Amino acid sequence: MCQILLIGHGKMGSALAKGWIKDDSKYKISIIEKEKILFDYKKFTNVKLYKNFNEFFSENKRIDFVVLAIKPQQLNDIKNYILKIENKKTVFISILAGKSINWFKENISNEIKIVRAMPNLPASISRGVTAIYCSNSISPNEKLIIEELLLSIGTISFVSKEEQIDLITAISGSGPAYFFYLTEVLTEIAIDLGISKNDAINFAKNTFIGSASLLDSEKSNDVISLRKNVTSPGGTTEAALKILINEDEGLKVILKKAVLNAISRAYELKN
Ligand SMILES: NC(=O)c1ccc[n+]([C@@H]2O[C@H](COP(=O)([O-])OP(=O)(O)OC[C@H]3O[C@@H](n4cnc5c(N)ncnc54)[C@H](OP(=O)(O)O)[C@@H]3O)[C@@H](O)[C@H]2O)c1
Repeated sequence: MCQILLIGHGKMGSALAKGWIKDDSKYKISIIEKEKILFDYKKFTNVKLYKNFNEFFSENKRIDFVVLAIKPQQLNDIKNYILKIENKKTVFISILAGKSINWFKENISNEIKIVRAMPNLPASISRGVTAIYCSNSISPNEKLIIEELLLSIGTISFVSKEEQIDLITAISGSGPAYFFYLTEVLTEIAIDLGISKNDAINFAKNTFIGSASLLDSEKSNDVISLRKNVTSPGGTTEAALKILINEDEGLKVILKKAVLNAISRAYELKN
Protein backbone atom coordinates (compact mmCIF):
# COMPACT_ATOMS: atom_id res chain seq x y z
CA MET A 1 0.00 0.00 0.00
CA CYS A 2 1.28 3.47 -0.87
CA GLN A 3 2.14 5.39 2.31
CA ILE A 4 1.20 9.07 2.37
CA LEU A 5 2.11 11.52 5.09
CA LEU A 6 0.22 14.81 5.26
CA ILE A 7 1.84 17.50 7.41
CA GLY A 8 -0.72 20.16 8.38
CA HIS A 9 -4.48 19.65 8.40
CA GLY A 10 -5.58 23.26 8.00
CA LYS A 11 -7.72 24.66 5.18
CA MET A 12 -5.76 23.01 2.35
CA GLY A 13 -4.51 19.90 4.15
CA SER A 14 -8.03 18.97 5.30
CA ALA A 15 -9.39 19.45 1.77
CA LEU A 16 -6.75 17.06 0.44
CA ALA A 17 -7.24 14.47 3.18
CA LYS A 18 -11.01 14.46 2.73
CA GLY A 19 -10.51 13.89 -1.00
CA TRP A 20 -8.28 10.87 -0.35
CA ILE A 21 -10.43 8.99 2.13
CA LYS A 22 -12.45 6.28 0.52
CA ASP A 23 -13.34 2.84 1.81
CA ASP A 24 -11.44 1.22 -1.05
CA SER A 25 -8.45 3.59 -0.87
CA LYS A 26 -5.10 2.21 -1.98
CA TYR A 27 -3.33 4.72 0.26
CA LYS A 28 -2.38 4.48 3.90
CA ILE A 29 -2.67 8.05 5.15
CA SER A 30 -0.88 9.49 8.16
CA ILE A 31 -1.71 13.02 9.23
CA ILE A 32 0.40 15.15 11.58
CA GLU A 33 -1.50 18.15 12.92
CA LYS A 34 -0.82 20.24 16.03
CA GLU A 35 -4.39 21.42 16.45
CA LYS A 36 -7.37 19.25 17.37
CA ILE A 37 -8.79 17.65 14.19
CA LEU A 38 -12.55 18.12 14.20
CA PHE A 39 -13.35 15.86 11.24
CA ASP A 40 -14.15 12.28 12.28
CA TYR A 41 -11.72 9.95 10.49
CA LYS A 42 -12.45 7.00 12.83
CA LYS A 43 -14.45 4.99 10.33
CA PHE A 44 -11.63 5.09 7.77
CA THR A 45 -9.23 2.34 8.78
CA ASN A 46 -6.51 3.58 6.43
CA VAL A 47 -6.15 6.98 8.20
CA LYS A 48 -4.03 7.54 11.30
CA LEU A 49 -3.72 10.87 13.13
CA TYR A 50 -0.63 12.06 15.01
CA LYS A 51 -0.15 15.12 17.18
CA ASN A 52 3.56 15.44 16.47
CA PHE A 53 6.51 13.92 14.61
CA ASN A 54 7.81 11.88 17.55
CA GLU A 55 4.48 10.09 17.81
CA PHE A 56 4.57 9.48 14.06
CA PHE A 57 8.16 8.19 14.00
CA SER A 58 7.46 5.76 16.85
CA GLU A 59 5.06 3.88 14.56
CA ASN A 60 6.29 4.49 11.01
CA LYS A 61 9.45 3.74 9.11
CA ARG A 62 8.65 3.97 5.40
CA ILE A 63 6.86 6.86 3.70
CA ASP A 64 6.38 7.14 -0.08
CA PHE A 65 4.85 10.61 -0.43
CA VAL A 66 4.91 13.55 1.97
CA VAL A 67 2.51 16.43 1.38
CA LEU A 68 3.62 19.66 3.05
CA ALA A 69 0.54 21.73 3.90
CA ILE A 70 1.78 24.03 6.66
CA LYS A 71 2.37 27.78 6.32
CA PRO A 72 5.65 28.70 4.59
CA GLN A 73 6.95 30.40 7.77
CA GLN A 74 6.39 27.14 9.75
CA LEU A 75 8.76 25.16 7.53
CA ASN A 76 11.86 26.09 9.54
CA ASP A 77 10.34 24.43 12.64
CA ILE A 78 10.10 21.05 10.91
CA LYS A 79 13.32 21.08 8.84
CA ASN A 80 15.01 18.44 10.99
CA TYR A 81 12.01 16.12 10.80
CA ILE A 82 11.94 16.42 7.01
CA LEU A 83 15.62 15.47 6.98
CA LYS A 84 14.75 12.41 9.03
CA ILE A 85 12.16 11.29 6.46
CA GLU A 86 14.11 12.33 3.37
CA ASN A 87 15.72 9.55 1.32
CA LYS A 88 16.18 8.73 -2.36
CA LYS A 89 12.70 7.24 -2.66
CA THR A 90 10.38 9.58 -0.77
CA VAL A 91 8.68 12.25 -2.87
CA PHE A 92 7.75 15.55 -1.19
CA ILE A 93 4.85 17.57 -2.58
CA SER A 94 4.96 21.16 -1.37
CA ILE A 95 1.88 23.37 -1.70
CA LEU A 96 3.67 26.19 0.14
CA ALA A 97 3.44 29.53 -1.63
CA GLY A 98 6.80 31.02 -2.57
CA LYS A 99 9.13 28.22 -1.33
CA SER A 100 11.21 27.20 -4.35
CA ILE A 101 12.75 23.80 -5.06
CA ASN A 102 16.11 25.51 -4.62
CA TRP A 103 15.11 26.59 -1.13
CA PHE A 104 14.49 22.95 -0.19
CA LYS A 105 17.78 21.88 -1.77
CA GLU A 106 19.77 24.62 -0.04
CA ASN A 107 18.06 24.42 3.33
CA ILE A 108 17.14 20.77 3.69
CA SER A 109 18.97 18.42 1.34
CA ASN A 110 20.45 18.69 -2.10
CA GLU A 111 19.06 15.22 -2.85
CA ILE A 112 15.45 15.95 -1.87
CA LYS A 113 12.87 14.83 -4.44
CA ILE A 114 10.39 17.65 -4.42
CA VAL A 115 7.34 18.65 -6.46
CA ARG A 116 5.63 22.02 -6.21
CA ALA A 117 1.88 22.33 -6.42
CA MET A 118 -0.32 25.40 -6.13
CA PRO A 119 -3.98 24.67 -5.34
CA ASN A 120 -6.66 27.24 -4.47
CA LEU A 121 -9.43 27.63 -1.94
CA PRO A 122 -12.31 25.96 -3.86
CA ALA A 123 -10.27 22.78 -3.24
CA SER A 124 -12.29 22.62 -0.01
CA ILE A 125 -15.37 21.73 -2.11
CA SER A 126 -13.35 19.67 -4.66
CA ARG A 127 -13.59 22.52 -7.21
CA GLY A 128 -10.02 23.76 -6.92
CA VAL A 129 -7.54 24.17 -9.73
CA THR A 130 -3.96 23.08 -9.03
CA ALA A 131 -0.80 23.89 -10.97
CA ILE A 132 1.93 21.26 -10.61
CA TYR A 133 5.63 21.43 -11.42
CA CYS A 134 7.65 18.18 -11.45
CA SER A 135 11.38 18.18 -12.15
CA ASN A 136 13.09 15.39 -14.11
CA SER A 137 13.88 13.50 -10.92
CA ILE A 138 10.22 12.42 -10.69
CA SER A 139 9.44 9.14 -12.46
CA PRO A 140 6.33 8.64 -14.66
CA ASN A 141 4.89 6.29 -12.00
CA GLU A 142 5.39 8.85 -9.24
CA LYS A 143 3.84 11.48 -11.49
CA LEU A 144 0.73 9.33 -11.85
CA ILE A 145 0.29 9.12 -8.08
CA ILE A 146 0.88 12.88 -7.68
CA GLU A 147 -1.78 13.43 -10.34
CA GLU A 148 -4.22 11.17 -8.53
CA LEU A 149 -3.57 12.79 -5.13
CA LEU A 150 -4.19 16.29 -6.46
CA LEU A 151 -7.15 15.39 -8.69
CA SER A 152 -9.01 14.69 -5.45
CA ILE A 153 -9.43 18.46 -4.93
CA GLY A 154 -10.44 19.49 -8.46
CA THR A 155 -8.72 19.95 -11.79
CA ILE A 156 -4.94 19.94 -12.31
CA SER A 157 -2.50 21.26 -14.85
CA PHE A 158 1.23 20.52 -15.16
CA VAL A 159 3.48 23.49 -15.92
CA SER A 160 6.84 23.13 -17.64
CA LYS A 161 8.80 25.74 -15.63
CA GLU A 162 8.91 26.23 -11.88
CA GLU A 163 8.67 30.05 -12.21
CA GLN A 164 5.17 29.58 -13.63
CA ILE A 165 4.01 28.35 -10.22
CA ASP A 166 4.70 31.81 -8.76
CA LEU A 167 2.87 33.51 -11.63
CA ILE A 168 -0.12 31.18 -11.32
CA THR A 169 -0.20 31.82 -7.56
CA ALA A 170 -1.10 35.43 -8.40
CA ILE A 171 -3.83 34.27 -10.82
CA SER A 172 -5.61 31.24 -9.36
CA GLY A 173 -4.09 31.07 -5.84
CA SER A 174 -5.17 34.64 -5.00
CA GLY A 175 -7.98 34.56 -7.61
CA PRO A 176 -10.78 33.51 -5.23
CA ALA A 177 -10.08 36.69 -3.21
CA TYR A 178 -10.41 38.79 -6.39
CA PHE A 179 -13.78 37.17 -7.06
CA PHE A 180 -14.98 37.64 -3.47
CA TYR A 181 -13.93 41.28 -3.60
CA LEU A 182 -15.80 41.83 -6.90
CA THR A 183 -18.92 40.36 -5.27
CA GLU A 184 -18.37 42.60 -2.24
CA VAL A 185 -18.00 45.73 -4.39
CA LEU A 186 -21.04 44.99 -6.57
CA THR A 187 -23.07 44.39 -3.38
CA GLU A 188 -21.92 47.71 -1.89
CA ILE A 189 -22.78 49.59 -5.09
CA ALA A 190 -26.28 48.06 -5.07
CA ILE A 191 -26.71 49.15 -1.42
CA ASP A 192 -25.45 52.67 -2.28
CA LEU A 193 -28.13 52.79 -4.99
CA GLY A 194 -30.85 52.07 -2.41
CA ILE A 195 -31.30 48.29 -2.73
CA SER A 196 -31.69 46.42 0.58
CA LYS A 197 -28.62 44.63 1.98
CA ASN A 198 -30.23 41.19 1.60
CA ASP A 199 -31.30 41.80 -1.97
CA ALA A 200 -27.94 43.36 -2.84
CA ILE A 201 -25.90 40.30 -1.77
CA ASN A 202 -28.45 37.95 -3.33
CA PHE A 203 -28.31 39.70 -6.73
CA ALA A 204 -24.52 40.19 -6.74
CA LYS A 205 -23.63 36.68 -5.54
CA ASN A 206 -26.13 34.80 -7.68
CA THR A 207 -25.26 36.82 -10.77
CA PHE A 208 -21.63 35.73 -10.48
CA ILE A 209 -22.49 32.14 -9.53
CA GLY A 210 -25.02 31.83 -12.37
CA SER A 211 -22.61 33.37 -14.88
CA ALA A 212 -19.79 31.08 -13.71
CA SER A 213 -22.07 28.04 -14.11
CA LEU A 214 -23.03 29.22 -17.59
CA LEU A 215 -19.36 29.55 -18.53
CA ASP A 216 -18.72 26.14 -17.01
CA SER A 217 -21.46 24.61 -19.18
CA GLU A 218 -19.81 25.97 -22.35
CA LYS A 219 -17.26 23.44 -23.53
CA SER A 220 -15.59 26.05 -25.76
CA ASN A 221 -14.49 28.37 -22.91
CA ASP A 222 -15.55 31.20 -25.22
CA VAL A 223 -15.90 33.87 -22.59
CA ILE A 224 -15.83 36.70 -25.16
CA SER A 225 -18.91 35.37 -27.02
CA LEU A 226 -20.74 34.98 -23.72
CA ARG A 227 -20.02 38.61 -22.88
CA LYS A 228 -21.04 39.78 -26.37
CA ASN A 229 -24.32 37.83 -26.05
CA VAL A 230 -25.41 40.04 -23.13
CA THR A 231 -24.19 43.26 -24.73
CA SER A 232 -26.78 44.68 -27.13
CA PRO A 233 -25.40 47.48 -29.30
CA GLY A 234 -26.35 50.82 -27.80
CA GLY A 235 -27.79 49.16 -24.69
CA THR A 236 -27.19 49.48 -20.94
CA THR A 237 -24.54 46.73 -20.59
CA GLU A 238 -22.56 48.28 -23.42
CA ALA A 239 -22.65 51.62 -21.58
CA ALA A 240 -21.22 49.95 -18.45
CA LEU A 241 -18.60 47.99 -20.37
CA LYS A 242 -17.35 51.17 -22.05
CA ILE A 243 -16.07 52.16 -18.60
CA LEU A 244 -14.79 48.70 -17.61
CA ILE A 245 -13.00 48.07 -20.91
CA ASN A 246 -11.35 51.50 -21.08
CA GLU A 247 -7.75 50.91 -22.16
CA ASP A 248 -6.23 53.54 -19.87
CA GLU A 249 -8.16 53.11 -16.64
CA GLY A 250 -10.46 50.12 -17.08
CA LEU A 251 -10.61 46.89 -15.10
CA LYS A 252 -7.72 45.24 -16.97
CA VAL A 253 -5.37 48.05 -15.95
CA ILE A 254 -6.34 47.72 -12.28
CA LEU A 255 -6.41 43.93 -12.20
CA LYS A 256 -3.04 43.69 -13.95
CA LYS A 257 -1.55 46.08 -11.38
CA ALA A 258 -2.99 43.88 -8.62
CA VAL A 259 -1.62 40.65 -10.14
CA LEU A 260 1.84 42.19 -10.67
CA ASN A 261 1.81 43.40 -7.06
CA ALA A 262 1.03 39.84 -5.90
CA ILE A 263 3.91 38.51 -8.01
CA SER A 264 6.40 41.02 -6.61
CA ARG A 265 5.23 40.20 -3.07
CA ALA A 266 5.88 36.50 -3.81
CA TYR A 267 9.46 37.39 -4.85
CA GLU A 268 9.91 39.51 -1.72
CA LEU A 269 8.73 36.64 0.50
CA LYS A 270 10.98 34.20 -1.33
CA ASN A 271 14.05 36.31 -0.67
N1 LIG B 1 -5.44 28.66 1.78
C1 LIG B 1 -5.25 28.83 0.48
O1 LIG B 1 -6.10 29.36 -0.26
C2 LIG B 1 -3.97 28.35 -0.17
C3 LIG B 1 -3.87 28.33 -1.57
C4 LIG B 1 -2.72 27.83 -2.15
C5 LIG B 1 -1.66 27.40 -1.35
N2 LIG B 1 -1.77 27.46 -0.01
C6 LIG B 1 -0.64 27.01 0.80
O2 LIG B 1 -1.07 25.93 1.58
C7 LIG B 1 -0.35 25.93 2.81
C8 LIG B 1 -1.34 25.72 3.93
O3 LIG B 1 -2.26 26.80 3.93
P1 LIG B 1 -3.59 26.74 4.79
O4 LIG B 1 -4.41 27.90 4.36
O5 LIG B 1 -4.16 25.36 4.74
O6 LIG B 1 -2.96 27.02 6.24
P2 LIG B 1 -3.56 26.66 7.65
O7 LIG B 1 -5.04 26.59 7.59
O8 LIG B 1 -2.90 27.56 8.65
O9 LIG B 1 -3.04 25.16 7.88
C9 LIG B 1 -1.77 24.79 8.34
C10 LIG B 1 -1.98 23.83 9.50
O10 LIG B 1 -0.75 23.18 9.81
C11 LIG B 1 -0.59 23.17 11.23
N3 LIG B 1 0.83 23.04 11.58
C12 LIG B 1 1.77 23.99 11.59
N4 LIG B 1 2.96 23.50 11.97
C13 LIG B 1 2.76 22.18 12.22
C14 LIG B 1 3.60 21.15 12.68
N5 LIG B 1 4.88 21.35 12.98
N6 LIG B 1 3.07 19.91 12.83
C15 LIG B 1 1.78 19.70 12.57
N7 LIG B 1 0.91 20.65 12.15
C16 LIG B 1 1.39 21.88 11.97
C17 LIG B 1 -1.16 24.51 11.64
O11 LIG B 1 -1.41 24.55 13.04
P3 LIG B 1 -1.34 26.04 13.75
O12 LIG B 1 -2.52 26.77 13.23
O13 LIG B 1 -1.39 25.72 15.21
O14 LIG B 1 -0.04 26.67 13.35
C18 LIG B 1 -2.44 24.55 10.79
O15 LIG B 1 -3.50 23.84 11.39
C19 LIG B 1 0.39 27.26 2.90
O16 LIG B 1 1.76 27.04 2.78
C20 LIG B 1 -0.13 28.08 1.75
O17 LIG B 1 0.91 28.84 1.15
C21 LIG B 1 -2.90 27.90 0.61
